Amino acid sequence: SCEPPNLLSTCQTESPKGGDIPEHFQLQRMANTSKGKVCVTGASGFVASWLVKRLLESGYHVLGTVRDPGNQKKVAHLWNLAGAKERLELVRADLLEEGSFDDAVMACEGIFHTASPIITNADSKEEMLDSAINGTLNVLRSCKKNPFLKRVVLTSSSSTVRLRDEAEFPPNVLLDETSWSSVEFCESIQIWYAVAKILAEKSAWEFAKENNIDLVAVLPTFVIGPNLSPVLGPTASDVLGLFKGETEKFTIFGRMGYVHIDDVASCHILVYETAGAKGRYICNSAVLGSDELVALLAKRFPSFPIPKSLPNIHGEQTYGYNTSKIRKLGLEFRGVEEMFDDSVESLKAHGYLREGAA
Ligand SMILES: NC(=O)c1ccc[n+]([C@@H]2O[C@H](COP(=O)([O-])OP(=O)(O)OC[C@H]3O[C@@H](n4cnc5c(N)ncnc54)[C@H](OP(=O)(O)O)[C@@H]3O)[C@@H](O)[C@H]2O)c1
Repeated sequence: SCEPPNLLSTCQTESPKGGDIPEHFQLQRMANTSKGKVCVTGASGFVASWLVKRLLESGYHVLGTVRDPGNQKKVAHLWNLAGAKERLELVRADLLEEGSFDDAVMACEGIFHTASPIITNADSKEEMLDSAINGTLNVLRSCKKNPFLKRVVLTSSSSTVRLRDEAEFPPNVLLDETSWSSVEFCESIQIWYAVAKILAEKSAWEFAKENNIDLVAVLPTFVIGPNLSPVLGPTASDVLGLFKGETEKFTIFGRMGYVHIDDVASCHILVYETAGAKGRYICNSAVLGSDELVALLAKRFPSFPIPKSLPNIHGEQTYGYNTSKIRKLGLEFRGVEEMFDDSVESLKAHGYLREGAA
């Protein structure tokens, strides 16, 4: 057969005579003909929810994996997306269970692997490394079994690019996709999230090469923007903290890149749909020092107790990102003001922030 399971779009010649096809089947075929069926792992997450939204809007049939499809608090927002009733399915899968993604992956021609634990305390090191590295390989082993697979898009992170001894960078260096963070450096400062993302991405490249899987990686910087879910993920919680006057997280983060969540979703779809897309794509709008960021935010949102400045614990940091690779594919990034405006609106709408309240 020339068609993947559940995809009725490509092999019309094998169908029974046109007139014999029941009407409901024909409708299904029409829906599937526009765009194929794709899988999004960790579909209820902050980034993945936006990706699901944009995939549905552009006509894809989306099969999302979540750890608990019955958890309404985590998935209800997905069912409210335009097109969800017709073209969204949610199934259970866990990164830590071998073969857990087989059924979902076998039903799709494209895979967006976004699921990954984002826990920041050092105790969770083992689980974080296991779910990120073995979890990614688990998903890729399922991909290997699917002969109809077109492409896998992996959500990696800019933390795989920029974390090394700052002294090794020339001043004002513009980091591009050839740059890799140092595992030893990340281990020495116990940033297990970065260690997990570096090793997961490296293992993915190795596995994809050995098994002839078309893999493309998206490397977002710190993702800012509206939360589709009422449940805040780790990064949105960090932003909320900053707007309530907390200084610790962003002091530790230091100089960082920022990107609008909608641009991250578009980037994933763009590299999936562009036949010639290859390798890694840094996805970043602007890089700001923590002091620059809080100065900008305190001025723009004077009714929140945003710190006016932050202690500099990193010394001088001057790196930036060269994003010409993704821009050449046509992606244009929204600015920092817009991403924080949208984020604040969303935090207010979900009841997390009140004007003038600490
Ligand atoms: N947010 C950022 O600033 C940022 C920046 C760069 C890269 N990224 C990358 O973007 C991706 C999504 O991040 P996010 O910010 O959207 O985080 P998030 O909201 O915490 O989403 C992470 C998702 O991973 C799922 N997950 C965690 N452990 C799992 C397991 N054992 N089995 C199955 N699913 C599991 C979670 O599922 P449950 O809902 O079941 O917990 C959740 O849906 C990650 O790969 C992250 O590294 C994020």
